[in-house]
Amino acid sequence: MMFRYIVLFLLPIAIRCENASNSSNTSELHILVISPFQHVLSLFKSDIVDKLMNANHSSSDLPDELHCTIQEIQSSLQQTTLANQRLFNQAALHVSDALESISRMENETTETEILLNELNTTVETAKEDVRLAEIAAKKAVELFSYAIDTYRAIMYRNRYRENDYGGDYQFGRYNGQHHFGGYSGGNRFPFHTGLHSRGTNCHFDVRHDSLYKANAKAMHEADDKLKKQQVQLKNELVKYRSMESQLRNISEQVMELNTTLQEQQTIKIMTEALNEDFQMVANRLKPFSSSSKRLLDVLMYILDYQSIVELFNSAYNKLLTASTIESTDLELSREMMNKTKQKLIYLSAKLPRMRYRRKQFHRLCAHQ
Ligand SMILES: *[C@@H]1O[C@H](CO)[C@@H](O)[C@H](O)[C@H]1NC(C)=O
Ligand SMILES: *[C@@H]1O[C@H](CO)[C@@H](O)[C@H](O)[C@H]1NC(C)=O
Ligand SMILES: *[C@@H]1O[C@H](CO)[C@@H](O)[C@H](O)[C@H]1NC(C)=O
Ligand SMILES: *[C@@H]1O[C@H](CO)[C@@H](O)[C@H](O)[C@H]1NC(C)=O
Ligand SMILES: *[C@@H]1O[C@H](CO)[C@@H](O)[C@H](O)[C@H]1NC(C)=O
Ligand SMILES: *[C@@H]1O[C@H](CO)[C@@H](O)[C@H](O)[C@H]1NC(C)=O
Ligand SMILES: *[C@@H]1O[C@H](CO)[C@@H](O)[C@H](O)[C@H]1NC(C)=O
Ligand SMILES: *[C@@H]1O[C@H](CO)[C@@H](O)[C@H](O)[C@H]1NC(C)=O
Ligand SMILES: *[C@@H]1O[C@H](CO)[C@@H](O)[C@H](O)[C@H]1NC(C)=O
Repeated sequence: MMFRYIVLFLLPIAIRCENASNSSNTSELHILVISPFQHVLSLFKSDIVDKLMNANHSSSDLPDELHCTIQEIQSSLQQTTLANQRLFNQAALHVSDALESISRMENETTETEILLNELNTTVETAKEDVRLAEIAAKKAVELFSYAIDTYRAIMYRNRYRENDYGGDYQFGRYNGQHHFGGYSGGNRFPFHTGLHSRGTNCHFDVRHDSLYKANAKAMHEADDKLKKQQVQLKNELVKYRSMESQLRNISEQVMELNTTLQEQQTIKIMTEALNEDFQMVANRLKPFSSSSKRLLDVLMYILDYQSIVELFNSAYNKLLTASTIESTDLELSREMMNKTKQKLIYLSAKLPRMRYRRKQFHRLCAHQ
């Protein structure tokens, strides 16, 4: 799905450059490629075209100046082309790295989501276990208090019958910390067993009663079970939350990687598009770089719309379309080039140095 960005061409750049142009890496593109290229274009316009159009037969320094301007343009174009190529290779590498990392992290996301789902089931099961344990514990308390009520009933019956109080019996106080309250009321009462006393006080210890013991044991066990289930739920929830935060981390990392990807895609697409034009200009200028060429011939070639200027315009328009630069009217028309070439021919008749070979210019140029 990310490959869409490689295929879609100029419009996406235009959209994404606004944001990406602020990143350090697109600013690298600006510093190393876009600004130097703009400089080349403005040199071309002001120091060749405008200068020629404004010159006359008494502009004796003109050939030397043009010689230097052409040198500067050539070397600047060469550096720009190299930098552009380097940035393209770099961006292509970053794009493939980012794509790979994103694919790896998406894999990790899927795996984490599966684990999270499993933990969710575990948590839900643990919740259900707690719920059941709560019911069981509540029931055990009810049974226990029912047993006590039964003993109390027996005690009262005997009291009425014999009006004979036995010693207070400290009924095994249940002190469990149930969420719904353990049995805690009325557990201190005199106890009397009418059944075996034959008129005498009998200190019957309820704790030795098997029913009581069974109920108390069940209650304690149910409570222990509940506590265990609660601890289990807590542990499962901790695991769940940790897995959740891991998933969030991964998705944050994917988002960061995606931002990098978008930036690098922008650079890759831009440098690739510029490279087409730069390479063609370089190839076409190659035969005219030789120092044995006449300045006039080099100028005539450079000013030729179809050979060179059209490619300058093409690169310039790509930058404009991508909103990487604002229009500063550096486009050169076919008509303007025709006029400039005519003026150049006229001047070359008046300024013999125009016909010098490049190696005959010994003046050190300012930019060197
Ligand atoms: C730039 O990116 C931020 C988020 O990184 C976004 O909120 C903002 O809308 C974007 N601006 C433009 C002009 O695309
Ligand atoms: C870059 O971002 C800073 C703040 O983050 C902002 O002030 C500046 O205007 C932005 N520059 C460009 C060229 O977008
Ligand atoms: C972006 O450019 C900066 C310096 O210009 C460099 O340090 C950094 O590694 C580059 N990052 C990417 C992802 O290309
Ligand atoms: C030639 O141009 C220069 C400056 O561009 C100007 O000063 C001079 O008057 C012009 N000479 C003629 C003959 O037009
Ligand atoms: C994604 O995970 C599957 C199985 O978990 C594995 O076979 C595959 O190689 C992984 N892909 C990547 C890009 O890590
Ligand atoms: C488990 O998933 C269900 C359904 O998606 C959800 O309602 C529940 O809140 C999840 N459990 C936890 C602990 O997030
Ligand atoms: C999430 O990322 C932060 C820093 O990026 C890290 O400190 C933390 O341990 C991570 N958490 C998980 C669950 O991976
Ligand atoms: C990356 O961001 C783009 C939008 O900027 C979005 O369409 C795409 O789905 C994102 N990809 C990933 C893997 O998040
Ligand atoms: C420019 O000159 C060429 C011939 O040198 C001619 O074919 C073309 O029509 C001219 N174009 C303009 C716009 O003057």
